[in-house]
Amino acid sequence: MTDTDPETASAFTSLLTESRTFPPDPAFTAQANAGVELQEEAERNIEAFWAARAAELQWERTWDHVLQPGGSGTASWFVGGRLNVAVNCVDRHVESGHGDQVALHWIGEPGDTRDITYADLLSQVSRAANALESLGVREGDRVVIQLPMIPEAVVSMLACARIGAIHSVVFGGFSPAALRARVDDAGARVVITSDGQFRRGTAAPMKTNVDEALLGEPAIDAVLVVRRTGTDVPMTPGRDLWWDEVMAEQPDSHEAQAFDSDHPLFILYTSGTTGKPKGIVHASGGYLTQAAYTHRMVCDLKPDTDVYWCAADVGWITGHTYIVYGPLANRATQVMYEGTPNTPHQGRHFEIIQRYGVSIYYIAPTLIRTFMKWGEEIPDGYDLSSIRLLGSVGEPINPEAWIWYREHIGGGRAPIVDTWWQTETGAIMVAPLPGITATKPGSAQRPLPGISVRIVSEEGRPEAPGGSGYLVVDRPWPAMLRGVWGDPDRAKEVYWDRFAAQGYYFAGDGARYDEDGDVWLLGRVDDVMNISGHRISTMEVESALVSHIAVAEAAVVGASDATTGQAIVAFVILRASVEELGANLDAAVKELSQHVVTEIGPIARPKRILVVPELPKTRSGKIMRRLLRDIAEGRAVGDTATLSDPASVSAIADSFRAR
Ligand code: WTA
Repeated sequence: MTDTDPETASAFTSLLTESRTFPPDPAFTAQANAGVELQEEAERNIEAFWAARAAELQWERTWDHVLQPGGSGTASWFVGGRLNVAVNCVDRHVESGHGDQVALHWIGEPGDTRDITYADLLSQVSRAANALESLGVREGDRVVIQLPMIPEAVVSMLACARIGAIHSVVFGGFSPAALRARVDDAGARVVITSDGQFRRGTAAPMKTNVDEALLGEPAIDAVLVVRRTGTDVPMTPGRDLWWDEVMAEQPDSHEAQAFDSDHPLFILYTSGTTGKPKGIVHASGGYLTQAAYTHRMVCDLKPDTDVYWCAADVGWITGHTYIVYGPLANRATQVMYEGTPNTPHQGRHFEIIQRYGVSIYYIAPTLIRTFMKWGEEIPDGYDLSSIRLLGSVGEPINPEAWIWYREHIGGGRAPIVDTWWQTETGAIMVAPLPGITATKPGSAQRPLPGISVRIVSEEGRPEAPGGSGYLVVDRPWPAMLRGVWGDPDRAKEVYWDRFAAQGYYFAGDGARYDEDGDVWLLGRVDDVMNISGHRISTMEVESALVSHIAVAEAAVVGASDATTGQAIVAFVILRASVEELGANLDAAVKELSQHVVTEIGPIARPKRILVVPELPKTRSGKIMRRLLRDIAEGRAVGDTATLSDPASVSAIADSFRAR
């Protein structure tokens, strides 16, 4: 939290008056994995409840304690227990006779396909685990993975898990500079990447970005390069190795050892309220328990009959928990698609659903709104009757998109689960239970059985139905973050200090209760933007902008956007006039935009950059982002009473409208 009352007030103002509800279809209820008894079980004895969920995994040694408070506000789960996460996701399914079941129906963007069974996955993960060990990777070592949506991404992650190495997956949309910062922060020894990736019908580079990121980086022992596009790439002797060549030399069996429940499984960097992303650390036993449980109950997975498709990227937490760990722990058969939804045509997703008989489809609201824009005649032209459940994640889903999703993708019958959670929570926290909950368009509704959240006031007092405030988690949960990599106190400062007296985890989201006590998320109350479901902090973009020599000061806001949820709008003050800098305004703006892409990556490219003479500031010198948001969203500018120079705001508003 960096802002006080007036700044956050707008986040709490919800204009929603949505009152439709959709009771569960009795036919769905009859077959649902979840039942009302789940909540009763959790209320009876919370530790016994989670122990029963953990017991569905395979442990080499059972835990001594379900839960033990740890440092930094977090807790250790299943203390004393030992397990191997990869064995849980792969080996045990082969051992139980399901080796021939397809784990991944993979579809490349150009149309090539691969079906990978659990037996195939076991042999590939085993080879990759052997390969990493042959490169000297040991328990606790960090491996950075930057790969497109190809099976090797899943194989690499599981291979790390199998040998107790900690993976840090970096989304392909991050720049070399952002990748370098993550490699350095984690102290990685090995990087896994590919020659290139297919995006929008063309082969884009990947390995050359990695090379740029690793320039003069002595700590890297090896770069493993998966052949995907066949692009010619320079290979650094003594460091770079072709994945297929290394894999071919390795035996396809590997003896896995078990690790402590609290052993770190992965680091995933996410934006917070500072310019520097935080490496969120997740551990093994608790994380996998909640990943598998939530996936089974919220996605209602039936491993023998469902075809499940989560269209996230493995570079984000949704890909980690709901492509890799949750579904594979539950023996799902899933679809994995490499490319963009409109390549080669706008019906691509629906064609895949029809072809593979996808029954569970889990995507972000930004994609739903994009489909709406493209037109309902596109999904209406395909047979989507296999769909029986729809999921939404990453941002608040507006009721209009919810209804459209239900009608045009879900055939007016499939329940929709709007799932609220975060990189830090590791797994779903608030969501309807399909078949149990009467759903409401736009509401994530209730904490799952075993999870407890509240909406509280500024002072931490619980709100009553109808009230709004900050969303907090008031009890430890198994998939909770285990800290911030390399910074033992940071998690406590960021997430627990805000409500230290009450011991609440502060999520950074505003929320309200409706009269029934259901939860409606209202967006971030801090300086984190949500662009197409990607978390980017205003500070990160600001520090990228001011790192350009021509920029004196920058203020960035997330402005509402009909498709992407929010869009990045930047206001910058230049060091000298544009003329003095020897440029024209358009060229300057273009260059600054490109500079942000270079520093962070294409996902952070501002939608608009406005060069301004001044920024609105309070008398104490704090930038009033609320006013900039008003301008960027075309609203009448709010209260300017506390400004040092009220006239500056109308000048900015005028030039924003003029351009
Ligand atoms: C937002 C993504 C409303 C929220 C899983 C949260 C949501 C941030 C929802 C975490 C939802 C995620 N409704 N808002 N169903 N799901 N959010 O870490 O602001 O990438 O704090 O995790 O996304 O984003 P992250």
